[in-house]
Amino acid sequence: MGRWWPSRLLLGLLCAVVSAGLVGRTDGGVTSSFVRKPAKAVDMPIDSDVFRVPPGYNAPQQVHITQGNHDGSAMIISWVTEEEEPGSSKVLYGTDRDQLDLNSEGKYTRYKFYNYTSGYIHHCTLRHLKHDTKYYYAVGIGHTIRKFWFTTPPEVGPDVPYTFGLIGDLGQSHDSNVTLTHYESNPKAQTVLFVGDLSYADKYPNHDNVRWDTWGRFVERSTAYHPWIWTAGNHEIDFAPEIGETVPFKPFSHRYHVPYRSSGSTAPFWYSVKRASAYIIVLASYSAYDKYTPQYQWLEAELAKVNRSETPWLIVLMHSPWYNSYNYHYMEGESMRVMFEPWFVKNKVDVVFAGHVHAYERSHRVSNIAYDIANGKCKPVPDESAPVYITIGDGGNVEGLANNMTEPQPNYSAFRESSFGHAIFEIKNRTHAYYTWHRNQDGNAVAADSMWFYNRSVRDLSECSSCSI
Ligand SMILES: *[C@@H]1O[C@H](CO)[C@@H](O)[C@H](O)[C@H]1NC(C)=O
Ligand SMILES: *[C@@H]1O[C@H](CO)[C@@H](O)[C@H](O)[C@H]1NC(C)=O
Ligand SMILES: *[C@@H]1O[C@H](CO)[C@@H](O)[C@H](O)[C@H]1NC(C)=O
Ligand SMILES: *[C@@H]1O[C@H](CO)[C@@H](O)[C@H](O)[C@H]1NC(C)=O
Ligand SMILES: *[C@@H]1O[C@H](CO)[C@@H](O)[C@H](O)[C@H]1NC(C)=O
Ligand SMILES: *[C@@H]1O[C@H](CO)[C@@H](O)[C@H](O)[C@H]1NC(C)=O
Ligand SMILES: *[C@@H]1O[C@H](CO)[C@@H](O)[C@H](O)[C@H]1NC(C)=O
Ligand SMILES: [Fe+2]
Repeated sequence: MGRWWPSRLLLGLLCAVVSAGLVGRTDGGVTSSFVRKPAKAVDMPIDSDVFRVPPGYNAPQQVHITQGNHDGSAMIISWVTEEEEPGSSKVLYGTDRDQLDLNSEGKYTRYKFYNYTSGYIHHCTLRHLKHDTKYYYAVGIGHTIRKFWFTTPPEVGPDVPYTFGLIGDLGQSHDSNVTLTHYESNPKAQTVLFVGDLSYADKYPNHDNVRWDTWGRFVERSTAYHPWIWTAGNHEIDFAPEIGETVPFKPFSHRYHVPYRSSGSTAPFWYSVKRASAYIIVLASYSAYDKYTPQYQWLEAELAKVNRSETPWLIVLMHSPWYNSYNYHYMEGESMRVMFEPWFVKNKVDVVFAGHVHAYERSHRVSNIAYDIANGKCKPVPDESAPVYITIGDGGNVEGLANNMTEPQPNYSAFRESSFGHAIFEIKNRTHAYYTWHRNQDGNAVAADSMWFYNRSVRDLSECSSCSI
């Protein structure tokens, strides 16, 4: 803490507090000096415990759930069966563990990818769920029944507390397993906001889609119980013309359904959901976003729909970060930033979470929207109306850590560290949210970086003048 700004120290608990182990302040914020073992990330072998197929004839596997409509009163249940016959697409559910008296009929799909043929991929939407209620559900009706549960979010409203986990670029290495275990050990987390790059199956010969299946089985222990809100990353594109695969996002879009239609979107790669007191907008770094494109038109209309009196917290997820000071994917997010950053500032987006860069970084509240080709105003400047940008692409995939940083640390960057981990965004009420980042080497209670977020319209700036700048 020694070299941290004295004004911040005085602000104590109320303002951004960063844990011990920090030196090396440069131009901008802090580059953590935390020393980790330089071990290479290695995928878990195919016969690992986490990849085991559940026993029983045509047992449902890779069970995962996600929010099923805009206000959180529906849930999409998905799973895969791998025998010759598809099995039932029905879900039995109810609030009494022993009496699943409701049911919903889903559909199945399957796809081929080069010489791989998927199992039957079932998707079933449960509608008209009661808010803030624990439901039990069963899949595999008629053959091997497996039971799980989930809790619906409270009704949308400005003071509803809710806790999100943030995970990105997870993959299926030993480190991925540590990240997931670490997330699971947080007793408060209720839903995962996933910022893209799921299985990394495309790292295998011919994008071996068996690795999509192993990934689905690996994460089931969380995704069958907690909804994961999906963002598409570059490892979801699976565009491989050299083996005749020319339809982008084929495996991802068959396997992971999202409620894009309920937010008026025309494609599953950009959409929004409301959950508790948060409005979550998911953007697509790998779909067109120039002026006149569907995503551009959708986002323009979408931002106008956000009612901050109802959902004070406006969160955006995307894969490729706009503010990134690592020497990886440098400026890949730049063209989207140019298109959308003025809207984010105008609409006072609270926070933007991205992945892609396999490390951790948090920005100050900055914007870079004054440049007009001729005026030379092309540097990020402090801006209270701007979001905080967080890169959380540190899930632990096989590509390993990004550890080469631009030097000196640019002044928009508040904190950066090249470690695997996950984050927690804990909304307390309409004015306060507490954010923490947890590196894998630490116990769950340890936050290696943290920050209080405030509703910037109501907060008394004099009380906390340098909190998030
Ligand atoms: C993955 O993590 C879980 C939970 O900590 C553990 O039970 C399992 O053995 C781990 N598997 C591998 C292959 O690391
Ligand atoms: C697909 O092709 C690869 C080599 O081209 C081969 O190793 C693999 O066994 C094949 N898989 C199937 C399911 O046929
Ligand atoms: C939070 O800010 C929005 C404006 O961005 C405001 O409409 C909302 O009521 C605020 N929440 C309060 C006052 O608690
Ligand atoms: C915004 O939300 C508040 C609180 O739910 C509601 O009273 C108000 O009517 C909404 N405004 C609009 C324009 O829908
Ligand atoms: C970074 O420094 C430059 C000049 O050195 C200044 O113009 C700019 O406002 C600073 N940006 C931030 C985010 O502090
Ligand atoms: C870090 O990245 C820079 C810019 O790409 C490159 O010039 C440099 O060689 C890299 N350093 C290491 C140690 O890889
Ligand atoms: C909102 O939460 C913060 C942090 O827990 C608390 O200090 C504050 O009193 C709460 N505000 C209201 C209106 O309850
Ligand atoms: Fe990526």
